This record gives sequence, structure tokens and C-alpha cells, in this order.
Amino acid sequence: MLDDALLSPAHTTAARPPVDGPPVQAPPVRVRTLPGVYGPQTDSWLLAQALRREDLDGARVLDLCTGSGLLAVTAAMSGAADVVAVDVSRRAVLTARMNLRRNGARGAVVRGDLVHAVPDGDFDVIVSNPPYVPAEDDALPTRGQARAWDAGRDGRLIVDRICTEAPARLAPGGRLLMVHSHVCSADRTVELLEEQGLRAEVLLRRQLAFGPVMMSRARFLEQAGFVDADERHEELVVVRAERPGAADAAHGRAA
Ligand SMILES: C[S@@+](CC[C@H](N)C(=O)[O-])C[C@H]1O[C@@H](n2cnc3c(N)ncnc32)[C@H](O)[C@@H]1O
Repeated sequence: MLDDALLSPAHTTAARPPVDGPPVQAPPVRVRTLPGVYGPQTDSWLLAQALRREDLDGARVLDLCTGSGLLAVTAAMSGAADVVAVDVSRRAVLTARMNLRRNGARGAVVRGDLVHAVPDGDFDVIVSNPPYVPAEDDALPTRGQARAWDAGRDGRLIVDRICTEAPARLAPGGRLLMVHSHVCSADRTVELLEEQGLRAEVLLRRQLAFGPVMMSRARFLEQAGFVDADERHEELVVVRAERPGAADAAHGRAA
């Protein structure tokens, strides 16, 4: 059991709506993070907002790359029947378990690599805010905070794996929600998910100024052609994809 004294008050956060649009009824979510764990940021809140708009009643939800557990907690508090969260970081796993408890929410948190951490079962909803920031090489960090954002030269090492590995774990009619930056190509994400037989679209977009990580590698992003000269803002996108359900098959609708 962890002592709250280990928690950094600087990383205490309550849910707030990040985007314009119809209000979404949801109970407040409070999360804290252990040092070194990714505290909820705009991408996290944007994805939480998209998640709350889904019908989660009785749903089985898988949160890949859970970090603080914000999305797992959000799912559990929005009607999901069964929530499983996965992260490769030990501290993130402890943090997510703690935040589920803190919010009186039920869910399992497993340490491991994406869907391979949960070998059995299909899910109605898979949600993920993965690492997606382009880095100077393709060697993914095995420790430290950069594990939350470094994603290889094109920023897509983890995003591509989610696009190709997660669809097989969706139940018929199941939905995948993923957030990332436009710098690593929303079009490519939609294309890959459609290749897996899902119907995919960009659901939400949000412009924001570069945060500290993007700013620290702005010159590299320029030189590698991810952003224009002196461009210091990015667009976050939430991609939503749906696996056709039994009704689609019965009516002969294309995927
Ligand atoms: C950008 S953070 C997102 C945290 C949280 N879901 C949120 O939205 O605030 C990405 C997380 O992915 C985790 N991660 C990185 N590679 C992973 C992998 N192969 N399998 C599972 N988790 C991974 C990191 O440890 C980090 O906690």
C-alpha cells in the first residue's frame, strides 16, 4: 500500500472540460501521480472527454498506456462494467491502482506491453493516449519519463502497434479511441485502422501551443519536416474507430 506522502501535490488534478461542445455529464475525477508518472495533460483530458461521450454502460474497457489511470477511472465512473488498464511502468501501475481506489472505482491494472499484457478477452472499448512524440532515433527508452512520449523517428512506433494489434481485441461493434498529435499523421492512423477492417475518423481536434517536450525538440521537428519553420503549435486529434457489429454483417454493409 502506498502512502499519500509519496504523492506530489503538484500533480493533483480534478477533471475539467478541455474542449467546446455539448456538456458531458460525468462525476468529478481526482487523480494524483507519483513522481515520474505522466500527469494528465490536454491530450489526456481531450481523450477523457471523447470517452465520456461513448455509451459505456456495462462495457468492457481496456485502457492502454494508462499512466495516472485517468482514463480507466473515467471509464469506471461512467458506467463501464469491467475496466482493465495497462502500463509498462511500475510507478504508473501503482499510480493507476491508487487513483482507482481514490475515486472509489473498480478496475484491474496490469504491468506489461500493450495488448500483450492482457492475453485473453475482447473489449467493447479500447482507449489509449500512447507515446507519440518524434525522437532522434528509433530506440524506445526503457526507463524514465521519456517513455511516456518518445516514439521513434516518425513518432508512430507505439501508435502503429495499437492500430494493428488492438482491433483484433475489439468485440463486434467495439470502439477504439486514441489521441495523438497531428505531427505523426492522423491520416496514417485512420488508414491503418481501416486496413484492419474498422470504420475510422478523426472525432476531435484541438490546437495548442507546444508544451515543454515539443518545445525542447522544436528545431529537430523543423529539420525533420514535421512542422514549418517557427511553427510552435500542434493539433491534437482524437481518432475514433469502430469494428462493424453483427447487424452490419447481416445487412452486408462494407467495413
Ligand atoms: C502519454 S502517457 C499517457 C498517460 C495517460 N493515459 C494519460 O492520458 O494521461 C503514455 C504512457 O504509456 C506508457 N507506455 C509506454 N510504452 C508502453 C507500452 N509498450 N505498453 C504499455 N504502456 C506503455 C508510459 O509508461 C506512459 O505512462
